[in-house]
Amino acid sequence: MEWPISSKQPDIAAWFRQYSDPLHRDPYSFYRYLLEEEPVYFLEERRTWVVSRYEDVTQVLKDPVFVKEYRNAVPLPETAQAATFSRKIDELFYHSMLNRDAPVHTRLRRSVSHAFTPNRMTRLQPKIIEIAKQLAHQLEGEAKPDLIASFAFPLPVIVIAEILGVPAEDRELFKAWSHTFARDLDGTDTSPEFASRARQAGDEISDYFKCMITERRARPREDLISEMLASQQREEGLTDLEIIATCTLLLVAGHETTVNLIGNGVRTLLTHTNQLEKLLHRPEWMPSTIEEVLRYESPVQMTSRFASADYELRGKAIRQGQSVQVMLAAANRDAAKFHQPDRFLIDRTPNPHIAFATGSHYCLGAPLARMEGEIALAALLKRFPRMQLAAEHPDWRPLILFRGLSSLLLRLE
Ligand code: HEM
Repeated sequence: MEWPISSKQPDIAAWFRQYSDPLHRDPYSFYRYLLEEEPVYFLEERRTWVVSRYEDVTQVLKDPVFVKEYRNAVPLPETAQAATFSRKIDELFYHSMLNRDAPVHTRLRRSVSHAFTPNRMTRLQPKIIEIAKQLAHQLEGEAKPDLIASFAFPLPVIVIAEILGVPAEDRELFKAWSHTFARDLDGTDTSPEFASRARQAGDEISDYFKCMITERRARPREDLISEMLASQQREEGLTDLEIIATCTLLLVAGHETTVNLIGNGVRTLLTHTNQLEKLLHRPEWMPSTIEEVLRYESPVQMTSRFASADYELRGKAIRQGQSVQVMLAAANRDAAKFHQPDRFLIDRTPNPHIAFATGSHYCLGAPLARMEGEIALAALLKRFPRMQLAAEHPDWRPLILFRGLSSLLLRLE
């Protein structure tokens, strides 16, 4: 959606306050405004900076001045004390690597990084191909095939459940928890009903993984939970709370992102049929297609940091302790970095997008997400090369942090 001429200057605060379909179904004209007019903008209402240009976003993500933990940004006596939490969900988020700085971040990340190496991915590949084939087969039998519910969602969830060692049959539970956490992170639902649901979901997932830990401690298997438990014998081992937090993070990461990569990928190809035709003729372009989907419709649109010292960016003074929202999806449409950034081109090279961020928190699951995305799209195109969109308008999830579809109805032909 283009901003109407009369209101060229969008209401930036309103955009960040709450999802609304007319504003957010196409966030890219808003990002274009930020990129061109307000590349480093102070959002008074949230007391946060909004940074959108590629060069600046990568600078913030790579500079150790910008940290994840507020108490490392402002080490005053009161923030340096042990963190306390009134909700389990906050305690779990806090104890996951995503929200910690070195040295804790390094220890947490190292404890599971072996599960996402290229070697492990190669071993997982045949299994993922099999799952994708089966799901595509089931999709074909459906009267009103919804790609999200029947394919894009179950695929990464079955895979992450397999890696962790939890029953994939519990996926409806994972879905409910994970959607609640995503909405909580998004921060745009401030209703009391939602607050109580988020509190409950945190308690439930914590109890669920506590039971799993007891079970695996008694009977270890070849899975990540058992491996994390075994690491407790070593000095760098994780506490039970850290194991639960890591499982929660991996489950949420597996749910809220790769689903969107697959859904956004299929939708974008079906709305850019010349690119789809190209891909059908040149399947070897699948890896670069996935990279372009990640750039063009980034599943994670933004993330944030705190400044641990005063910092100047494009002449603006960021003060110690202030937060900075970095707009990954805007940076991925920056014309200073990408030629014709608003065109979807499956053979774009080079394509140095930052959909997986950059710096020390670079997505741990990137090799897995890429492989899942490639296998998923290849399986679908092989079976349904003539598939078409069956709904007139895209059904976007009402979130501003994540970009993905609630449903994607297809005619499979
Ligand atoms: C298309 C799919 C995915 C996208 C776009 C994505 C994106 C991201 C981004 C942007 C970050 C960095 C956030 C920040 O710097 O604040 C991140 C971190 C992370 N992602 Fe992903 N992710 C995806 C899939 C996955 C999967 C499948 C997993 C694992 C199952 C995963 C696990 C993680 C973990 C553990 C971190 C934290 C890394 C750290 O803090 O060191 N991600 N992801």
